[in-house]
Amino acid sequence: MRHERVRVKVPASTANLGPGFDSLGMSLELYAYIEMSFADQTEIELFGDNMEGVPLDKSNLIYEVAQMVFAEAGEHHPELYIGMCSDIPLTRGLGSSASAIVGALVAANALIGGKLSADRLFQLASQLEKHPDNVGASLFGGIVVAFWDGARAEHIRLEPHIDMDVLVAIPSFQLATEKARHVLPQSVALSEAVFNLSHSSLLVAAFATGNLAMIRHAMQDRLHQPHRAALIPGMTEILEHAVQHGALGAALSGAGPTMLALVDARSGRRSELESFLRDTFAKHQIEVDIRLLRPCLTGVQVLSVEQSVCTLLELAKGEYAV
Ligand code: HSE
Repeated sequence: MRHERVRVKVPASTANLGPGFDSLGMSLELYAYIEMSFADQTEIELFGDNMEGVPLDKSNLIYEVAQMVFAEAGEHHPELYIGMCSDIPLTRGLGSSASAIVGALVAANALIGGKLSADRLFQLASQLEKHPDNVGASLFGGIVVAFWDGARAEHIRLEPHIDMDVLVAIPSFQLATEKARHVLPQSVALSEAVFNLSHSSLLVAAFATGNLAMIRHAMQDRLHQPHRAALIPGMTEILEHAVQHGALGAALSGAGPTMLALVDARSGRRSELESFLRDTFAKHQIEVDIRLLRPCLTGVQVLSVEQSVCTLLELAKGEYAV
């Protein structure tokens, strides 16, 4: 079925979850919305916050990604209407660029009647991002375990434990992924590699079996977090002490600077953990926005614009939740 105009709701994501560098991701209930239709002349409208520096011409990422989908499907649609609003803060480690890529792929594919498979969209998204963790989570929802070997991406989706909540502490400063990757070494000792693969494997097993008590042991990393610590004041203290303040485990969210703490919703220790995260950053004069987010179970969704009760502008203003 071809849509006249599509609206796509695409979740944020957190990557790595500590040891699963470039291979583990989890989708979060924080969303970007993209509308798309064929047009006589290209028009790009942005609504609300989190849109700084987003181009309004054909160099726009969403436009470019949509054109990739049409080219792949053998169709030609050079002129598009694109509308977007987003609650996902930019360059904070919550997968905003992956959400834009996934949203663009899915919206463009819906416009041409879903010619490309979900797997093909995942391959394209992984090639664009160069790692499958964020895009996999935004596409499939839940927890995604994945690799991308430069040619192909494979994944398995896991259902997050129903009582596992996610606290994110989003610092007021931005950190470009490129900068946070630049500080990483090109090679590591075998012992460090073994440390990470054993912890990452155990973490996946803990998620798969719902063993929340194992997360604190498994959520340890030596590949990227120690190298990124200098870029995020307070990070090392949070990683070392979050469990004492009620976390199941803590990690840098993606390339940062957001910190992530998993918490058992039944533990009653959420506010203690929240204070710990806020106070630790405050010691370094860093303001944080702390949010409790549930894992998003659905992944990206195509919504019908015709049936929707509100416009993107109303969504951006927070007047509706859909
Ligand atoms: N896995 C990536 C990284 C996520 O840690 O650099 C950032 O997009």
